Amino acid sequence: MGIEFLQGDIQSIQESGEGSLTLHLSQLGEQTTSSMGEFVFENGSLSLDADLVVLASAQTPKERSGDLAEELGVTADRYGFPMENQPRMFRPTESFVDRVYMAGSASGPKVVQQSVEQGKAAAMNALPHMLRGEKHPPKYSSRIDTGVCIGCRMCESVCPHGAIRKTEEGMVSDPGFCQGCGLCAAACPVHAAQIGNFSDRQILEQTDRAFSGVNPGDPRILGLLCYWCSYCSADMASQHGLTAPANFRSIRIRCSSSVNSGLIMEMFRRGVEGIIIGGCPPNSCHHIHGNYLADKRVSLFSHLMHQLGLEGRLVFDYIGVPHYQRLIDMVKSMDQRLRQLGPSPVGPHRRRERELSAT
Ligand code: FES
Repeated sequence: MGIEFLQGDIQSIQESGEGSLTLHLSQLGEQTTSSMGEFVFENGSLSLDADLVVLASAQTPKERSGDLAEELGVTADRYGFPMENQPRMFRPTESFVDRVYMAGSASGPKVVQQSVEQGKAAAMNALPHMLRGEKHPPKYSSRIDTGVCIGCRMCESVCPHGAIRKTEEGMVSDPGFCQGCGLCAAACPVHAAQIGNFSDRQILEQTDRAFSGVNPGDPRILGLLCYWCSYCSADMASQHGLTAPANFRSIRIRCSSSVNSGLIMEMFRRGVEGIIIGGCPPNSCHHIHGNYLADKRVSLFSHLMHQLGLEGRLVFDYIGVPHYQRLIDMVKSMDQRLRQLGPSPVGPHRRRERELSAT
């Protein structure tokens, strides 16, 4: 577009008559020319004429804000500014830690009017909690069985809401801060952490019942769809009259990263033939990085899946609300693939065959 970018340090700006300005710059860094080469530093300095000069200095977070964010368990972005939870629509001014709000340039450069509006919004958000006193624990919060916990603190390190702390009694998840994402439950190597109303046992029971009406010859395809985006995408598909194959069932889970590898294996063992895990689109997970963790976990798990002869039977995708057509297409293509692959080698059907041939 004909824009020149040039890195330099402004030494002075002088009026040079007829309303024009002359800038005197000294070289900053290695670069001696502007991006398209029109301006060149000579012996580290450059003068250029301009009709208008706009000065906009960079802004960095206050040093103390980093300590405060760390103390409160608030996640910071790559520049060190505390991050807002859903800044555009649903949860502006809220941090990822329940009842911790931010306003103005605490979370990045802002104009004054925006800062004032954010301050008012944060106060309005905080008010009901202050009037009500302690917030009621949410419906979905994690619990850590201290009798099983081995104290590895994995749960604490993955918790995006700063809800888990080590105490004298062991690891504790504070229900006042926990948002029930399930990241701790999936990361715990000994299954000491579980989410209320979304425990592995409850999800397995739902799975068993979900397929009770499916034709025994059809491959059982299960969608584990995240609470916020992917499950709503399935709803949108039916609202738009799209239909998935009749052998597909979906279960609403918390964050896509709440699914652990043990749960996936148990599902295959119980006769599920293919699993689609759906998470929020990139940069949109309601628990910061849960969707990326789920994606990573599935790709790491694929090696084991291959060894067990289960390749092609587990997929992860970022499925936002408007991606309902893609969800249906994924189910259809998995259905075709599973019919070509035949029954899963770890399902009850094949296990029975192996037992019979062994006797
Ligand atoms: Fe949807 Fe995390 S909340 S993937």
